[in-house]
Amino acid sequence: MKTLTITRPDDCHLHVRNGAMLKTVLPHTARQFARAIIMPNLKPPVTTVAQALAYREEILQAIPDGVNFTPLMTLYLTASTTIDEIKRAAECEHIHAFKLYPAGATTNSDAGVADVTKIYPLLAALEKYDLPLLIHGEVTDEDCDIFDRERVFIERYLLAIVTNFPALRIVLEHVTTKEAVEFVESASDKIAATITPQHLLFNRNAMLAGGIKPHYYCLPILKRETHRLALVKAATSGNPKFFLGTDSAPHLTHLKENSCGCAGCYSAFAALELYTEAFEQANALDKLEGFASFYGADFYGLSRNSGTMTLEKCDWMIPASYDETIPLKSGETLRWKMV
Ligand code: NCD
Ligand code: ZN
Repeated sequence: MKTLTITRPDDCHLHVRNGAMLKTVLPHTARQFARAIIMPNLKPPVTTVAQALAYREEILQAIPDGVNFTPLMTLYLTASTTIDEIKRAAECEHIHAFKLYPAGATTNSDAGVADVTKIYPLLAALEKYDLPLLIHGEVTDEDCDIFDRERVFIERYLLAIVTNFPALRIVLEHVTTKEAVEFVESASDKIAATITPQHLLFNRNAMLAGGIKPHYYCLPILKRETHRLALVKAATSGNPKFFLGTDSAPHLTHLKENSCGCAGCYSAFAALELYTEAFEQANALDKLEGFASFYGADFYGLSRNSGTMTLEKCDWMIPASYDETIPLKSGETLRWKMV
């Protein structure tokens, strides 16, 4: 039996929600990952240290007995975030970053920032306290084509942000384009990016050819094949600027299978298996450990994990659903399985 053993990985971009959904999805992540950067886009968003600590307690309650898992909390940056709150976050050992959503860019982003240039004083504070800024990098203008929104965000906002705040650590989250890869590669070592399993495995045909498949709809939206190839090349290059962030984003089935379906792919149930398939297709299994287990920790200034996880080459069928959530590739076969 072919097996692959790597240092226990970290998920540097994860949505676990709260309430009943949290109880369904968190065990999947905790089984595979030692730690995860937890996204703050709850309703209402997690904007204060106090809220993040309460949310952290709720997450700790959902970890199965005997499982070692640490949630790494983030705060949602809004136009009303105060410099005092940023200072408090920097002093709190459980808070690891702030998340910037352009208003209206994606699920639960109404509280996001309408004009990034208006919050420059907050970015200056993040830079001063050395707290990373995690960016959902898409413009939201109705007249900007949805397939261009990431590229235009980089041109219009990100280039100026990195010029004005050269010491600010930034993660461009879930990159989906060749242009984003090139931007990150050419930027300073303060700038990194996460890449999801769906953007490594699929292009937009998976979502649109032969019928609309809502479980492949996430934001930023899947792009054409040239972009997928650029992402695979970046992820498997061994460049420490690119690391694992699933963006696993569970939604109830009826909200995705809807005349106005919401964005997000649920991948936490087999995140490592999905990445392993992508790395194997690229003949780069030897590059998986750095991407999954080292570079994210290094960027966040955390120690690397000590345990290991093993995957074996073996076919298994992905269930049709987990409670009321349909997973990515439901009913299809995966080629690797965590032991
Ligand atoms: C995410 C979600 O559902 O919270 N959806 C998605 O398509 N990725 C939000 C996000 O990260 O954009
Ligand atoms: Zn996300």
